Amino acid sequence: MLTISDREFDMLTAFIKENFGINLPDTKKYLVIARLQSVLQEKGMHDFTSFLQYLASDSSGEALQTLVSRLTTNHTYFMREAIHFTYVKTTVLPEIIKNLPDLDLRIWSAGCSSGQEAYTLAMLIADYFGAHKSAWDTRILATDISPRVLEQAKRGIYDLGDLDNIPEAWQRRYFKAVDSERRAVVPQIKNEVIFRYYNLMNQPFPFKKKFHIIFCRNVMIYFDSSTKKKLINAFYDITADGGYFFVGLSEALNRQDIPYRYIRPSVYQKG
Ligand SMILES: C[S@@+](CC[C@H](N)C(=O)[O-])C[C@H]1O[C@@H](n2cnc3c(N)ncnc32)[C@H](O)[C@@H]1O
Repeated sequence: MLTISDREFDMLTAFIKENFGINLPDTKKYLVIARLQSVLQEKGMHDFTSFLQYLASDSSGEALQTLVSRLTTNHTYFMREAIHFTYVKTTVLPEIIKNLPDLDLRIWSAGCSSGQEAYTLAMLIADYFGAHKSAWDTRILATDISPRVLEQAKRGIYDLGDLDNIPEAWQRRYFKAVDSERRAVVPQIKNEVIFRYYNLMNQPFPFKKKFHIIFCRNVMIYFDSSTKKKLINAFYDITADGGYFFVGLSEALNRQDIPYRYIRPSVYQKG
């Protein structure tokens, strides 16, 4: 059985925090071993010191990508925390689009995992705008740090069971059968989402235009409070006036610490 010394664990977790913001306390020791064990085996390494050397010496980016793919938690699903999508439809969109003369609605799904959040937003937007959609630019930026989940997201193919939470009318309109078990997002929706690799630790964000809606749900739960605070300030700077910021329903943000105005649990607004 592979073991990790305290020193190796401290070095590895410091590296992970520095590069991805993800905070792994001592209680996650066994999780780290379990998730990295097969990587070490594949590389013929017998201890974490060799793995740390590999991380430090690899300039191809492969080591970093392997680490990210193994250690990030990518759990997600369509219509997750559906109350947010209802709120976007009933409150956020009507309010925002009446002040958008250039018909350019900008949305960012930050920490999008395998794409279900961004595609849910794209279906919502298509449904909301209906026949008027073609007049608008509503493309959604969806970013993540894990190349593995981004590949799945770009493919846009999901198991039939993954569609269970999606309203039937949307399932019929926005998916087509690949085979008896799988469904593909139709091009009309797929083309509305731009998936990109982006590490949220790279701040300030390099985007020229500000966003009207930012979703960063269930991502910051792995960050410590100072990393979180810095990241929220970076989101604030890139939010348009009157724009909205969503976090996961279980993520309590300290209202005193953040520049956004609190609207309701997990929903914030600039200005
Ligand atoms: C649990 S998933 C959340 C997916 C989706 N937002 C949702 O709520 O269902 C968290 C995602 O955040 C990503 N993530 C973690 N740290 C990140 C970072 N530093 N930069 C970008 N994405 C990151 C992970 O790769 C993972 O896919």
